[in-house]
Amino acid sequence: MAGRIPQKFLDDLLDRLDIVDVIDRRVKLRKTGKNYSACCPFHDEKTPSFSVNPEKQFFYCFGCGAGGNAIGFVMDYEKLDFPEAVENLAQSAGLEVPREEARPGSAANSADSNKPLYESLEQSAQFYERSLRQHPAAGSAVDYLKSRGLTGEIAKAFRLGYAPPGWDNLIAACGQSEAEQERLLKCGMLIKNDRDRVYDRFRERVIFPILDQRGRVIAFGGRVLGDDKPKYLNSPETPVFHKSRELYGLYQARKYNNRLERIVVVEGYMDVIALAQHGIGYAVATLGTATSEAHLERLYRLVPEVIFCFDGDDAGRKAAFRALESALPVMQDGRQARFLFLDEGEDPDTLVRKKGRDFIEARFNGAAPLETYLFDHLSEAMDVATMDGRARLSKLAAPFLQRLPDGVFKELMYQDLARRTGIDLDSLKRLQAPPPTPEQRPTSGPVMAESELTPPPFDAPPLEDGDWEPTGQQFDEAESNAERTGPALDPRVHSAVQRLLGLTVLKPVLAKDLDTGELVDGSHEDLTLLRELANHIHENPQISSAALLGYWYGTSDGQRLADYSGRETLIEDAGLDALFTGLLDQVRNHRQAVSLNERLRALKAKPFADLDTDEKQELMAITRQLRTLKGRS
Ligand code: UTP
Ligand code: MN
Repeated sequence: MAGRIPQKFLDDLLDRLDIVDVIDRRVKLRKTGKNYSACCPFHDEKTPSFSVNPEKQFFYCFGCGAGGNAIGFVMDYEKLDFPEAVENLAQSAGLEVPREEARPGSAANSADSNKPLYESLEQSAQFYERSLRQHPAAGSAVDYLKSRGLTGEIAKAFRLGYAPPGWDNLIAACGQSEAEQERLLKCGMLIKNDRDRVYDRFRERVIFPILDQRGRVIAFGGRVLGDDKPKYLNSPETPVFHKSRELYGLYQARKYNNRLERIVVVEGYMDVIALAQHGIGYAVATLGTATSEAHLERLYRLVPEVIFCFDGDDAGRKAAFRALESALPVMQDGRQARFLFLDEGEDPDTLVRKKGRDFIEARFNGAAPLETYLFDHLSEAMDVATMDGRARLSKLAAPFLQRLPDGVFKELMYQDLARRTGIDLDSLKRLQAPPPTPEQRPTSGPVMAESELTPPPFDAPPLEDGDWEPTGQQFDEAESNAERTGPALDPRVHSAVQRLLGLTVLKPVLAKDLDTGELVDGSHEDLTLLRELANHIHENPQISSAALLGYWYGTSDGQRLADYSGRETLIEDAGLDALFTGLLDQVRNHRQAVSLNERLRALKAKPFADLDTDEKQELMAITRQLRTLKGRS
């Protein structure tokens, strides 16, 4: 599984570090009881909701939900990759990061060991560039690029290339030795089939090298010259290419602009290039993935204004809403996000070629500010002329506003909402409950208040980083993600399972005797995770909280573990065992009730008179059992 890391070294490292030291060196901490606190470095706030638990060796922010162990903190705070953060911490602890044991593709691969990959990628890029100029078949590619209005100068700036027809051009040019082939395979340039035959991934395509911020080639996109499918082929995820973090064109935007004032995010490679061709050198594109918070953090470190430009179709609208969601948490004061929808059938490339630079820049200038887009979009489904519609709008909007960092912008958003709904500010703010404090939380059972805070159902769950799918499908896919989390759990039981997960992270020994066989038929992702967690603890009975979080770090499972355990940080050790058993009983009872109910339904399907004596007795026994179970819960 991606993100899993060699356990032994991390254990040692985390053992030697004190998270309090690690954080205090970067953000001054104040002791508050057993824990330490500070204003959260990951979002703007005036009262501290960032808490560090020395005993469990992890941090959590009640305000923004950031949380994790020392490695996670350094990654987030210093904006480092996993291996870089480990390297950084290892250095401060006087440890050498072992390299030879790293599993291929694992996060623990050191930055250094990637050097040969960068070299192979650079050589590949040069081969494609050369082919575009020299290969006998390159005429068609050159004509194609010209037909799309590109000059040689722009082709050069973006290092466009050509992969000639044939299965082994790249192999012949850059992969003569076994070692070279191995590297080309590793960085996704070659493919090995079932019969161990190796061949070029990119064949007879125009090549778009993808550069990182430093201008190193990390991957490629390749477009067919005609209308064949798939239109674009892209490099797979590799140790140096994580598509959900990269932005196509960002390197050029920085290189060719002395002072960037704003950046436009568009959908396609060709949009970026066509805009540049027309003198708009500040466009970037995501690589077939949704715009993520990581993307935006990166952009807002460079410019105060980001304009999202989407196609006007359904897929574009969904993509825009995803982008809005990623933007909310990073909208610190002084930052601006705006949204522009083009007419159906247009994209920035076609538009700038038809209408020119001034026209499209005027459209950028007129793009809707985030607040307008958000409120208009939410109001679409309801009649804001009625009191009821306005009340519903306020309810719907509150959870979105809540995700904004504190500041003037957030305040203005509330004022705007108040104006639109005619509901006074104070009442609006009351609509968003603060995260429950441990005292308010029931000692067992669900944290129901949360359902109030979840965004409205029309909104698709966040896209995972994965292979590219055509935009339309991409989001349908996202919608069905909910199904991938397994069958819905009863909310009370789900909440109990979440708490079991959280408590287990805090005190792994709690799960020592957990019989995972009992939970075996549950396919909900959190039940599965509880099983995996318990199994891992059975195999490593001494494991610490931090090591557990480290083991799952960087995965969506790890994210949830940090989240669930973060909600529990302040619970006293004393009552933990009883609480754990209580919660477990709740889950067991529920599962028992479910199967009893199933049997009951089967029995009741027959008329009572047709049941035989055994069945009648069983029916009564089940009814009794269910009543007892109900009494217990
Ligand atoms: P578009 O189809 O909008 O790309 O897909 P485009 O750049 O406008 O393409 P043309 O050349 O003008 O026809 C948007 C982006 O989605 C990804 C690419 O990153 C593309 O730039 N994509 C699209 C793929 O990865 N594969 C595909 O088959 C299609
Ligand atoms: Mn296009």
